[in-house]
Amino acid sequence: MSDQELASPAFLADPYPFYQRWREDGRVWWSERLDAYVIARYTDVRNMLTTPRVFGQSRRYEPPRHGEVRGPAADYFRPRRLESALGTAIAANAERIVDTLPAQFEMTRDVGEPFVMESMAILFGIEDTHLLRELYEPLIVYLKRSRALDADKSVQEAGRAAGRRLVEFLAELGSLRERQPGNDLISHLLAMGMARAEVETVCALTLIGGVDTTVRGLANLLLGVLTTPGQEAFLRARPELAENAFDEALRWVSPLQLKGRELRESTEVGGTQLQAGRSVIGLLGAANRDPARHADPDRFKADRKVGDHLAFGFGIHYCVGAPLARVEAGAILRALMRRFSRLTVEHEGDLAFEGPVYRSPLSLVLSGQAS
Ligand code: HEM
Repeated sequence: MSDQELASPAFLADPYPFYQRWREDGRVWWSERLDAYVIARYTDVRNMLTTPRVFGQSRRYEPPRHGEVRGPAADYFRPRRLESALGTAIAANAERIVDTLPAQFEMTRDVGEPFVMESMAILFGIEDTHLLRELYEPLIVYLKRSRALDADKSVQEAGRAAGRRLVEFLAELGSLRERQPGNDLISHLLAMGMARAEVETVCALTLIGGVDTTVRGLANLLLGVLTTPGQEAFLRARPELAENAFDEALRWVSPLQLKGRELRESTEVGGTQLQAGRSVIGLLGAANRDPARHADPDRFKADRKVGDHLAFGFGIHYCVGAPLARVEAGAILRALMRRFSRLTVEHEGDLAFEGPVYRSPLSLVLSGQAS
């Protein structure tokens, strides 16, 4: 394990052989580049996620405040409630987008991005998706660039301005929902007695955490289904497994490849002593392919029992929006399979991926034969 490997083109192109070596080695590694310890094995990463006393999150999101904010949101995202509140609208949205596709299309630009953005608009109970997109896009550009080490002041200022615009918009939406409640997330949080400022925070986090990740997850789902022999036919025969296939795709190629924590106290992992006050990075993408947890881990298997993968995190910060992402994935995969009797990936041998923090194909061109 070395910082050189982490920055190498070979790692960006295909991190999995590196992950395998790092898992087999099992030692915790100190990265100067990341200024953090790095861990790769499933049990170690899961332990990091489920021991918040030792591996803390940002102070703002620690218990008890974390639970107070998370509880009402998690209540809205309960799978049954979500399905009955939004399932029909999201499925209709999927059908509409898929019906307008040409025979050849790019999965992220033509399907994932418009579909997930419109699903967010449905979640917030708003009709003007363009407005939401205008608020979201500069913000996400800033967030990604600010994570790059060379982010300059102008990037940060543009990001702060984008954040302010989003908060103003959410404040207006909050006032509107106070007067005219609906079936949406904001109305639900207000009805549960959440303060307006907290509602705005939850909605901003939802938007920041729930769009890019899901768009990538959908591309990875189609990649798994269409490039693994037999899986498309299997899912056509068993379409009710679409949501499970999505979880498996997230295990197989995790959209978020790593997650960080701060050490609240010194501890030992894999025989290495880790010092309090330092950062730790858990490689979700490596842990999810650990053969000690999932047999034949490099293979995408739509019906794999995959409930404890780490792509949505684990423990108290487990992704609150996971049920929504699953509803979206089920709706879009079924809509695509209905519209096209067969789907194929174009230029499969030339696929390039974004990495190392996020992972999904930079471009996934699909061809469909109409049913
Ligand atoms: C494939 C799609 C998604 C992936 C891969 C993903 C990934 C994650 C991960 C790894 C975490 C854990 C963070 C941690 O432990 O620090 C997380 C938390 C979170 N996610 Fe997601 N997410 C997805 C979709 C969504 C959606 C659709 C929403 C909202 C509608 C959402 C909202 C959140 C929020 C608010 C948290 C913080 C939860 C907490 O701290 O209690 N995510 N997500």
